[in-house]
Amino acid sequence: MIGKILGTGSCVPAQSWDNNKLSEMVDTNDEWIRERTGIVTRHVAQSGESTAALAAGAARAALENAGLGAEALDLIIVATVSPENLVPCTACQVQEALGAGAATCFDLNGACTGFLLAMNTAQAYLAQGIYRTALIVGAECLSNLTDWKDRSTCILFGDGAGAAVLQAQPKGRYAQVTHSEGDRGAVLTCASRNRREFGETGGPETFLRMDGGEVFKFAVSRVPRVIAELLEKEAVALEEIDYFVLHQANARIVAAVAKRLGGDPERFPLNIAEYGNTSSASIPILLDELNRAGKLRRGMKLILAGFGGGLSYGASLIVW
Ligand code: UT7
Repeated sequence: MIGKILGTGSCVPAQSWDNNKLSEMVDTNDEWIRERTGIVTRHVAQSGESTAALAAGAARAALENAGLGAEALDLIIVATVSPENLVPCTACQVQEALGAGAATCFDLNGACTGFLLAMNTAQAYLAQGIYRTALIVGAECLSNLTDWKDRSTCILFGDGAGAAVLQAQPKGRYAQVTHSEGDRGAVLTCASRNRREFGETGGPETFLRMDGGEVFKFAVSRVPRVIAELLEKEAVALEEIDYFVLHQANARIVAAVAKRLGGDPERFPLNIAEYGNTSSASIPILLDELNRAGKLRRGMKLILAGFGGGLSYGASLIVW
């Protein structure tokens, strides 16, 4: 058995901040942000637009796209590093919002690789015949974890959610390779606010902190490597891949990965200009855009690749 993607959806906050707005908050400018990252705007959640609400919005759109009702779901996994609550988990909040009473629900923290890890987990359950129909969501309100006084990070991140509905089918193809490098975790961190030593006010450690240069180097070396590993394992040629749907962290990272692999940049779609880096949501939002633009046809081969906090990274091969 294999999980086939029957539908995708996404949901982002209504309000969008352009680079000029950020230049009023920190010492930066539109030209620097565009040139160094490719980002032009990012959606920023306002009151009421919680991680769970965005996740539920993306989930509804994915169910509609799949032509299924919420009662069909028997598994919901939400990948997030920015839930409003530790308990109940965001997936249970999505279950309630959808009325998906038959589903088993849990969250997964895989940082920017989270959506891929959620997909791998769902695929394993579906392959075993344990569940039949799964909803996987990547959802973030990174604006809650962003230090809006730190120009080296605040220009990068955005809020949003993307989702996919998978259903077990006897035939199809799915393959994945993932890796983690816990000994390098210090280059991208965000401490929990629920630590006694931080007292009531939290602390600077409770915002996203990053050695941007190190993360950049990590990404452009590991992502081509893991994609090559996956292609070799599956005996698939680079030219057979129709789209490489990469985590949107920086347009220069995507371009560097395409160059290192020797792939046609046209097959490495980008949407970071509008959304910024939405961590676990970036891959499913991009997938949904490709789907809704009619660019995905059944039988096409796609590689999804994520990388980020942990450090962690991975790639998956799907046949649409
Ligand atoms: O989702 C996974 C996690 N994140 C990532 O994958 C991010 C990976 N890293 C990156 O995307 C890039 O490293 C950044 C976009 C974060 C930074 O770009 P960079 O080209 O590596 O710039 P830099 O940190 O080397 O800084 C270059 C200069 C510095 O000034 P000096 O020392 O050359 O005078 C910075 O102080 O740019 C300065 N700078 C800025 N200037 C204007 C840093 N941030 C800004 C800013 N606006 N926002």
